[in-house]
Amino acid sequence: MRALVTGASRGIGAAIAHALADNGHQVAVHYRSAPEKALEVAEKLPGTGHVTVHGDLGANQAEQIVTETVEKLGGLDVLVNNAGIYFHHPIATTGFAEWQESWRRTIEVNLLGPADLIWHAVQHMGEGARIISVGSRGAYRGEPDAPAYGAAKAGLHAMTQSLAQSLAPQGISVAAVAPGFVHTDMVTDWLNSPEGDEIRKQSPFNRVGEPEEIASAVAWLASEKATWASGSIIHLNGASYLH
Ligand SMILES: NC(=O)c1ccc[n+]([C@@H]2O[C@H](COP(=O)([O-])OP(=O)(O)OC[C@H]3O[C@@H](n4cnc5c(N)ncnc54)[C@H](OP(=O)(O)O)[C@@H]3O)[C@@H](O)[C@H]2O)c1
Repeated sequence: MRALVTGASRGIGAAIAHALADNGHQVAVHYRSAPEKALEVAEKLPGTGHVTVHGDLGANQAEQIVTETVEKLGGLDVLVNNAGIYFHHPIATTGFAEWQESWRRTIEVNLLGPADLIWHAVQHMGEGARIISVGSRGAYRGEPDAPAYGAAKAGLHAMTQSLAQSLAPQGISVAAVAPGFVHTDMVTDWLNSPEGDEIRKQSPFNRVGEPEEIASAVAWLASEKATWASGSIIHLNGASYLH
């Protein structure tokens, strides 16, 4: 199977690229700003035929990303929407112009980008294809300091469920994972701050997740055994939030 993983130059995306390559997929390692890091990830993947592809989801480049992937891999069977941004914009301390810009940018990268990628990917997909999105626990638990992020991830989950129904007749399965805190660049400063201990305590395991713990679930969703999981959102949060 030929897989595109967005935001795979580091963090959860790089771990997903590894888990898919371990399972025999040929992977397109997508990056936005760091070609050398993406190349390093691609070169270290097990197997052969892996490539890198470039594009900015905040600049309407989803079509270019899919086209480049199809050209380089010869087709597309698995899309993993992993790329995402997170930054604080609490309503109490954010001015209106910054508030509007925060919502626009977050929705553009975290929700409209994946929607566009899905539309273009589906044009190349056949029976047995997979679309998997990396959502977030924040869609359920709330993101008081980053409300646009929580809303975008809730939208990503809802889109997953709707498209699971509309794409099933074409044999395409659509699912998502909703991680709690994961040890990546996105949250390193936070985990190293005085708040770090409180964050780790959110889980009774008293730690945050590792990228590989998210990647293994994504690799399973991408496998042929997971067709019946279409429409699922798998909660991966170390029992930190039950609902
Ligand atoms: N870490 C967590 O605690 C956590 C928890 C729940 C969900 N998640 C979700 O998991 C996914 C991966 O997170 P992570 O922690 O691995 O993040 P990360 O380390 O910050 O990596 C984010 C990735 O997304 C790419 N990206 C950012 N903006 C982009 C844009 N405009 N266009 C295309 N690509 C862009 C980045 O590329 P560049 O390096 O080139 O910018 C990078 O490869 C995200 O969707 C995130 O919301 C993370």
